[in-house]
Amino acid sequence: MKVDLDKLTPKQIVAELDKYIIGQDKAKRSVAVALRNRLRRRRLPAELQDEIAPKNIIMIGPTGVGKTEIARRLSRLSGAPFIKVEATKYTEVGYVGRDVESMVRDLVSVGISMAKREMQEGVREEAEKRAEEDLLDLLLPGSKKVATPVAPVTPVAPVTPVAPGGVQVPGSVQVPAAAEPSLITGGEKYKSTREKFREKLRKGEFEEKLVEIKVSKAQAPAFEIFSGMGFEEMDVNISNLSNIFGGKKKLKKTRISRAREILMAEEMDKLVDMEHVSELAIERVEEMGIIFLDEIDKIASKENRGGVDVSREGVQRDILPIVEGCKVNTRYGMVDTAHILFIAAGAFHMSKPSDLIPELQGRFPLRVELNALTSEDFRKILTQPRNALITQYVELLKTEEVELEFLDEAIKKISAIASEVNSRTENIGARRLHTILELVLEDVSFNATEIKGQKIQITEDYVEERLRNIIEDRDLTRFIL
Ligand SMILES: Nc1ncnc2c1ncn2[C@@H]1O[C@H](COP(=O)(O)OP(=O)(O)OP(=O)(O)O)[C@@H](O)[C@H]1O
Ligand SMILES: [Mg+2]
Repeated sequence: MKVDLDKLTPKQIVAELDKYIIGQDKAKRSVAVALRNRLRRRRLPAELQDEIAPKNIIMIGPTGVGKTEIARRLSRLSGAPFIKVEATKYTEVGYVGRDVESMVRDLVSVGISMAKREMQEGVREEAEKRAEEDLLDLLLPGSKKVATPVAPVTPVAPVTPVAPGGVQVPGSVQVPAAAEPSLITGGEKYKSTREKFREKLRKGEFEEKLVEIKVSKAQAPAFEIFSGMGFEEMDVNISNLSNIFGGKKKLKKTRISRAREILMAEEMDKLVDMEHVSELAIERVEEMGIIFLDEIDKIASKENRGGVDVSREGVQRDILPIVEGCKVNTRYGMVDTAHILFIAAGAFHMSKPSDLIPELQGRFPLRVELNALTSEDFRKILTQPRNALITQYVELLKTEEVELEFLDEAIKKISAIASEVNSRTENIGARRLHTILELVLEDVSFNATEIKGQKIQITEDYVEERLRNIIEDRDLTRFIL
């Protein structure tokens, strides 16, 4: 999806997020403003641009209220290179964790594929033309050069046999897969055969025909080796190796339809200037890139509480330079991280933002809190978002020809129960809805194939009946819901 960033106003961003996330208006507003501020900054004179640091955000809120969901939706509509990483991924570097700079490299990879896709769009028409020629070469081997007649052969005798009575014998034109040798020499005529094939090809008459094409062998498997070197350097070495061992092409038999896809991809690759792609990608990453640091509370810790905390603080210290702005070496060139926007999120149950090291706190000036969800929120979450849970179940069962209908009262009941269970046991936010709904629909799901063609109405009583036993028994609640 391509978005015109200039047109993406804070209001529109919020409206887009509203389609999937209920409530949490403050969080939506602040991410929208942060995104917009990137554009505003780009419109300023260069010296001023440098001075303006991104206003990084920490989203704080209990579990299951939409923090990660906001990030996921934002990534689709930001139109800028965007990645979401878990801060916990970087613990204990060299053992199970990854080196923190890899987040910048990952962001660059995203930028590269975005830029590449965009530039490929620009050359699509040309690539289509070339792929068509390639396909014609496959269908009529050796015909290409003749297409522009170099040395036209003046035939001594007519090439096409003329039957007595002056009727042309057909047949020579209906060339099968391999062209007949007599045709290869026949300049103009051959050209017209090619044109006829082109027509048929365009009409889709050859789609199922098998041809042999050369394809590059699968890439050597990417392996990660932990060594003093960064991953990037390893990458380069490995790709050299794979050139020696696996850079060959092999012949493959495929249908024309598939061959066209392969050839298109190849031609597009050839037409796109990778150097240009890298430049564009790096510029975008530096100016517009966004890193969403999820689970940041998990690396916050109060002073020395033992071994684990040391490494948590270590991760914070590792992350700090990237958030503050440093140069990271990537396969595509140096990237300056000073203007990358960071949005962090965490439940902060066990810790507080003030448990982060001060330098890092200072780099996240904006704090927004997400609210715990009420039963009314649940009702909306069940029904309103594009991907609402109830819609999902209705559609799933439709594939079995079971028509599912939820009465409003039933939905209210489910929401009320979710809210009640959340308050009685642990508050896991909207995730509670998944378990409850699964339980309510267990019978229907299980018997779907038998009740094919029926209409099932989920009423308040039905919900109550399905859940009563479990709700009344506290222990059961704890285990099942
Ligand atoms: N406000 C909301 N609107 C719509 N759906 C929501 C909302 N909050 C949560 N959900 C749904 O609940 C599930 C969990 O939400 P999410 O992953 O965003 O939780 P989180 O806030 O990141 O929690 P955690 O702190 O545990 O990571 C998702 O499937 C999401 O669709
Ligand atoms: Mg989350």
